[in-house]
Amino acid sequence: MSLPATQNQWTLVAAPTASAPKALAFKYVASGAVPALPSPTSIIVNIKALALAARDLQILNGSYPAPHALLENLVPTGSGSGVVVAVGPGVRRWKVGDRAIPYQMPGHHYTLDLEQWALERSIGGGTHGTAQEYMVMDENDAVPAPPHLSYEELACMGGSAVTAWACLFGHTPCLVPGSTVLILGTGGVSIFAAQFALMSGSNIILCSSSDDKIAKAKEILQPLLNPTAGKDAIRSINYSVDTEWDKTVLAMTAGRGVDNVVEVAGWATCGKSVRCTRKGGLVAVTGYLSTYNKVPDEIVQQDLSKMILYSAANVRGVFVGNRNQSEQMMRAVERAGSRPVIAHTFDFKDLPKAYEALERAGHIGKIVVRVNP
Ligand SMILES: NC(=O)c1ccc[n+]([C@@H]2O[C@H](COP(=O)([O-])OP(=O)(O)OC[C@H]3O[C@@H](n4cnc5c(N)ncnc54)[C@H](OP(=O)(O)O)[C@@H]3O)[C@@H](O)[C@H]2O)c1
Repeated sequence: MSLPATQNQWTLVAAPTASAPKALAFKYVASGAVPALPSPTSIIVNIKALALAARDLQILNGSYPAPHALLENLVPTGSGSGVVVAVGPGVRRWKVGDRAIPYQMPGHHYTLDLEQWALERSIGGGTHGTAQEYMVMDENDAVPAPPHLSYEELACMGGSAVTAWACLFGHTPCLVPGSTVLILGTGGVSIFAAQFALMSGSNIILCSSSDDKIAKAKEILQPLLNPTAGKDAIRSINYSVDTEWDKTVLAMTAGRGVDNVVEVAGWATCGKSVRCTRKGGLVAVTGYLSTYNKVPDEIVQQDLSKMILYSAANVRGVFVGNRNQSEQMMRAVERAGSRPVIAHTFDFKDLPKAYEALERAGHIGKIVVRVNP
């Protein structure tokens, strides 16, 4: 198949403001270069859909805290899906026509913890992302797609999904059936974590800011329960109303605490998450959705250290799972026939509107953009 010479893509350009000196703005490029194959093991994927995550918004707003520089004129967004349209002569894992999911952290394949060099290569941050029609990558930096999912659904299976997977199954103590998992929020990572926990025979306690979101999430998650699941399989707390939700979680678990927490909010919730985790449980600290600008860093660190010490819970940072975990997850999803939850779908030209929807945070699950339907 011969590829066109140019492609449509979005890029981000500097747009500093007084309050956000690192803010970026969208620029639509109708004649971006279509990449050539840079090495014998490269492939080119025709991107069919992309999905947004909190990180994409943080990068746009200039509040992304990761310790690496962003690429100039960055093609944004870290998740997507597409079809392989070109392969180098040394490619063994792919053929033209295969459906592929770009892996978000190129080169981070088997080690447990993400190295700085891999973070610096992250797509949609350190290197160009999925908001383009043709994307080049090494054959080892794409993951095979479960056949039952559409391109839009596959686009959701990148960073958020494998992060949720890594929080539950990628570290010690790994989730085992019959556990109770505390899920904070109803965004991309959280809903995947809820799905994976229920799929694997664990119970969840879902904390959300809204009763409406809780009701919708329960409706979505209920079909994943097997017939023997008890009434405690999905419980919930509205953390806007119940500000002492950690005490409620302890009460719900008869004082023992939950086995695993998927912690996405950072300083505003992390202490509470630690307090309501059982001894030896895992608080998988994976996000930082709270506003940090009014809290001195030293104080946050001191408070956390103290709580972590006295709780004896395991607390660790969890980055996107490695490619191996990503492939395990795809097999599990295929086996279970489960699907990602897509809240809204936008056309490619409306990418900025998709970001606005993400920022409004009225969604449950993922926001998807059709790039090349
Ligand atoms: N470490 C990694 O490699 C990695 C990879 C992917 C994502 N992440 C991180 O994971 C987090 C979630 O990402 P995402 O893409 O899933 O986000 P998202 O889809 O934008 O989810 C946003 C949702 O999180 C909930 N939330 C917001 N502030 C909260 C708070 N203070 N307490 C509890 N819940 C809160 C809200 O749900 P409710 O209204 O229902 O509460 C909100 O709708 C982010 O911090 C992101 O940076 C990390």
